[in-house]
Parts: sequence; structure tokens; C-alpha cells
Amino acid sequence: MAKKTVVFVCQECGAESPRWMGKCPVCGEWNTLVEETVQPAGKNAHAWVVKSKPLPLTQIENTAESRFSTGIAELDRVLGGGLVPGCLGLVGGDPGIGKSTLLLQVASGVARKLGRVLYVTGEESLAQLKLRALRLDAVCEELIVVSEANTNTICQIISDEKPVLVIVDSIQTMFVEEVPSPPGSVGQVRESTGRFLQLAKGSGICILLVGHVTKGGTLAGPKVLEHAVDFVLYFEGEVHTSFRIVRSVKNRFGSTHEIAIFEMSERGLLPVANPSQFLLSQRPEQSPGSVVVPYMEGTRPLLVEVQALVAPAPFGGTPRRQTTGVDYQRFSIILAVLEKRQGYPLQSHDVFLNIAGGLKLQEPALDLGMAVAVASSISNVSVNPLCAVLGEVGLVGEIRAVRGMEQRLAELNRLGFESCIIPSTNVQGHEPIKVYGVSTIQEALRIAVRG
Ligand code: TYD
Ligand code: MG
Repeated sequence: MAKKTVVFVCQECGAESPRWMGKCPVCGEWNTLVEETVQPAGKNAHAWVVKSKPLPLTQIENTAESRFSTGIAELDRVLGGGLVPGCLGLVGGDPGIGKSTLLLQVASGVARKLGRVLYVTGEESLAQLKLRALRLDAVCEELIVVSEANTNTICQIISDEKPVLVIVDSIQTMFVEEVPSPPGSVGQVRESTGRFLQLAKGSGICILLVGHVTKGGTLAGPKVLEHAVDFVLYFEGEVHTSFRIVRSVKNRFGSTHEIAIFEMSERGLLPVANPSQFLLSQRPEQSPGSVVVPYMEGTRPLLVEVQALVAPAPFGGTPRRQTTGVDYQRFSIILAVLEKRQGYPLQSHDVFLNIAGGLKLQEPALDLGMAVAVASSISNVSVNPLCAVLGEVGLVGEIRAVRGMEQRLAELNRLGFESCIIPSTNVQGHEPIKVYGVSTIQEALRIAVRG
């Protein structure tokens, strides 16, 4: 029998080291190396390898043309037009956020339209699954279920049943006998993912893996999981609200940063038909510190409300800065620009910034909205509720151009906004609503909060 060896694997990035170290030499994270026993490949390890032969590119079938719908239009859009045969995808998110719910809805949608779908559960009993399926109205003849955690057995079932789609819930519960470490460890997750990958590519069956997320926000298991799969969808939103966002963070078949918005209801996840309206539905009228930004990640504009609260800091204490939903570093820069260029006394104030609805936003086009919200709160002057704000702020207070202006203004127009403050370099002269072109933060603040 071949010799076993011990290696130390980083839980974050999957890097291997022959000895234990406190800090991973590859990703720089501390205390992430765990011991794993590597066993040489057994006779089963390559059972799913496809014998391949080089072919001219002209003879390769274009599988993108045979994309199929998940049965949920919002999700299809995030995937770039549906699922591609032979793809391996990962759906990640916190426990209880709705991964199993969404995938069971997808499973029944595909089963009703295209035929056999296999749902593998390693977490719930079949009775629990049935109960959930009844609630979701997902019970149908072509949807077959199995409670199993052995990857080799599942691969065998898939080969026998030849379904169109397989859901594996979750990858952290799957194991391969040849790997001695427990389910959920780096070695097990990597090995099982590798086998599902080979099977998907070799057979043209689409396999979706459910992945749990660690407290830090990364997908549990090594980054190799993300590297191996064709796409990664990630659930965002707070478990205690009914609002759920599914974001594509990697997609080999479409653009990334596309988002789908759902509401968790009695009967599962329902797409939100008019997300901008939904996001603005609880906006207070005429309130200092509230600003609407036509935000655009991916290809769809969304109107989001940025809220700032500036309050005098306790005397002698360090002023507090807190953000939810935006990058803290970016926000600090905006505060520094406001303080240095506009003379706002922020050193003596606590500043809080929040994106309503629990969204997490990254686009620099949000900068000017944050600046105006802070200025509006500190000067206690509300911004015209029918005027939106948009633009990237540079370090010297200049306003830089943003992309996708046409779609953003169209969305504002559709929701009844009358005007928008935009970068002057973006002004075309034939906008659907009134625009104020600005080239400095000062001009923007004069229009928005200083009348
Ligand atoms: P679930 O899909 O089990 O989460 P995950 O697989 O990501 O851990 O979702 C669980 C939550 O969703 C649970 O708190 C109940 C709620 N839920 C509904 O509100 N409506 C429904 O129709 C279903 C099936 C679940
Ligand atoms: Mg689940």
C-alpha cells in the first residue's frame, strides 16, 4: 500500500505546506492552516475521468446555445441567460438565508419543463424535504430525491439516472471514503468538488452545489472551491428581513455583479417585480441625510437610498464612524474631502452611513451621494426628494464621469424623479429628466443642500 503523507492546508486559500505555520505564506491569513492526511489516489479516484482526444475547435458544439431556463427569470438574468449544460455552479450564503428553498424551486421548475432532476440532500431528511416541497408546490414526478452524503455513491446515481440537473445540498456534508479527514474539511470539499466537476464536464449534466459561508463572509472551505466551479452565486441580505439578494460573483458564461432581488414569502422566494420602487418604499419624505442614487452594478439600474446621520461627538472622545453596506475606506476618503475642501467640522462629529434595504454596494458612482447625504445631515437641510445624486468623487473634490448614464436616468424617469445631479462630463443635452452637470463637489453641494 502506498504511503500516507501529512500536509497542512490553508482553510482560506487552499495552499499546502509540509509543516505547520501560524501565518499562511500565500494569503497571509493567521491560524488558517489545518493538518490533513493525503492518501495516494485509490482505484476509485479516477473513475470519472473522461478519456479525451484533441479536436478542431470547429467541431466543438456550442453549448451556450442550449442554455436552459431555471424557471425563475430573475435568476436566469443573473446567470447570463440560464444554465449551461455541463456546468458546475456554487450557491453560497449564510445558514437560513434561503439556499435550499431557491434550489428546490429551481429543481421543480426544471423538472416540470425539461425532465428528470435529482436533488441530493446531505443535511435534511427526506420527510423534511417533502414538507418543504409541499409548501413550495414543488412536488412533481420528475423531481427525484435522495438523502446521501457519499460522493462516489451520488456520482453512481447520477450516471444511472442521467438527470438534466443535480442539486447537491450541501457540499460541506459530502465525503469521499479515500480521504481520511471529516466532511466539511478542505480535503473533503476539494475532492468531492473535483469529482462532481469531472462528472459534469464529461456528461453534460448541470450540477449545482450549495455552500455554507463562514462568519467572516467567505465560502467555507478553500478558495479552490470557487476556482473549480463555473459560476458562484452568493446570497446577501439579513436573515431577519424578508429581502434577499442573489449576486453573481463569478460567471464563466456571463457578466458578474449582476443581482437578482427576491422576497421570502410563505411560498418560497418570489422575485421582486419593481426593485427600485420596493427599495424606496419606506423612504421618509423631506428628511435631512437621505439621498437617492441611481446605482448600477451589472446591467440593471437600481434606485437606492443612502442615509447619513451626523451628530455632535461627546466632548474629548474620538468621533465614531460607522458604515453599513458601503466600503469603509471609500467613505473615509469622502469624509476627508468634505472636511478639507468644504470645511465641514467632521472631527467633532460622529458620522453614520447606511444603505437602506441591507444592500451591499461597491460602485464609486455612489461617492457623491454619500457626500451629499453627510452634508445634508450636518447642515440639517433636506435634499429635494425628487432629485437624485450621482458621481465619483476624486481626492481634490472633482466629480468624475460614470458609465451607464442613459439607463440610470431612464430608471429615475420611470419612477417619477424630476432631476439628477450628475458629472458635467456625462451631460449629453437630451436627457429624459432635468440634469445639473457638476464638476466639483462644491457645485454639487450648492445645488443639493445650499439652495
Ligand atoms: P432555507 O432555504 O432552509 O435556508 P438555507 O438552505 O440557506 O439554510 O431557508 C430557511 C428559511 O426560510 C427558514 O427560516 C424558513 C424560511 N422559509 C420561508 O419563509 N418560506 C418558505 O416557503 C420556506 C420553504 C422557507
Ligand atoms: Mg439548506
